Amino acid sequence: MYRFDRKEYERRTAWFTQARFGLFIHFGLYALPGRGEWVRSDERMPESAYRPFFDGFDPAGFDARDWARAAKEAGMRYAVLTAKHHDGFCLFDSALTDYKSANTPFGRDIVREFLDAFREEGLKVGLYYSLLDWHHPDYPHRGDRYHPLRDDPAGENAGRDWERYLRYMHGQVRELCTSYGRLDLMWFDFSYGDMTGPKWRAAELADMVRTLQPGIVLNNRLEVSGEGFGSLYTGEPTAWHGDFITPEKMIPPEGLRDAAGRPLLWESCVTMNNSWGYTRADGYYKPAPLLIKKLVECVSKGGNMILNVGPDGTGRFPAPARRTLAEIGRWMARNGESVYGCGPADLPKPDCGRFTRRGNTLYLHVYENALGPLPVPGLEKDRVGAVTCLADGRPVPVSASWVHSDYPDVCFLDLGPDPVLPDGTDTVLRIELA
Ligand code: GLC
Repeated sequence: MYRFDRKEYERRTAWFTQARFGLFIHFGLYALPGRGEWVRSDERMPESAYRPFFDGFDPAGFDARDWARAAKEAGMRYAVLTAKHHDGFCLFDSALTDYKSANTPFGRDIVREFLDAFREEGLKVGLYYSLLDWHHPDYPHRGDRYHPLRDDPAGENAGRDWERYLRYMHGQVRELCTSYGRLDLMWFDFSYGDMTGPKWRAAELADMVRTLQPGIVLNNRLEVSGEGFGSLYTGEPTAWHGDFITPEKMIPPEGLRDAAGRPLLWESCVTMNNSWGYTRADGYYKPAPLLIKKLVECVSKGGNMILNVGPDGTGRFPAPARRTLAEIGRWMARNGESVYGCGPADLPKPDCGRFTRRGNTLYLHVYENALGPLPVPGLEKDRVGAVTCLADGRPVPVSASWVHSDYPDVCFLDLGPDPVLPDGTDTVLRIELA
């Protein structure tokens, strides 16, 4: 049986910390109605009303290689696809159900094509698997907190066999862990109320996953959801503990530490608009500059950011999402060194922006210029070695101007006469620490 080993934990999660930036993809039947992945639950939709989306699922524009290229060009280092979401529809060719993409007019195993394409582009790959299953007859209906038929007499639970559902759920996870090659990450979703840990037979499930996929990284949602931290936080990890915390649509005010004060791994999962699954009416896409700064904020606090795209009913990334990925990618191509493998600087946050750090290299992310020489509080001048503008290698001298002579202990940098920063989003200065 699994026992937590911190050295092994640090070894298996090293790639995750190095990667820092991932792509989340929520795709499935819900892309056809275009009202989000919770549409069945939100609209109390019976199977009969949802079935037409199964019968009509034929995303002719789906091209996993196109998705993979877009992710690679955005500077993303790993990607996670919904293999099965709460509606129970499987994007993989499960032998345990007919409710799968292979049985729709589309007739293909989307998970396999996703894994092949993203591995081909050199990204680490993960699968999202919903512990909830609103399609399976043995999953609780009436009285469940979220099931589409939770209030419906048709959802009576007589005859539903929870152990039979667990055999199904564990069997599917076994299929994913044995039929699709090496997986780097398993993103379970989600625990709620008494539907947590032992209820899922989570110790057995996590043990199976870790045995079949040695070195795989697990998230913390066999224990919690986007709310709650899980047992790694308490310092007494259960056998089904997550390897990282999963704050959702937010960034923790500070980095996360466990009860003993040790830094915890975490990953903010972030939507590009406000929706995970394709939502036609949700045009509120976050500007790329904001998302770049949020990625830097995550890294500056010791976390990752996984950014979501919800492909539409044709299987294509929506145009605004593609544009945003491309814009992020242009910035990452010049400045990714200040993200990958970086973490907190253990310095006070500078007025002008943020710090990230990797070993003796400090990155100052300048969002706003100073009136003159740029102050870098908290950084003693005798620790400052070579300073360059990361994007073009231009040297940046330490200022000797009289205007800051009253502050001899503060390091000021001379960015030159132009008040307009080279990068209107985030001009990164590379500071070698002596
Ligand atoms: C929440 C949403 C779920 C989504 C997940 C991604 O749990 O309910 O639909 O897949 O967040 O983090």
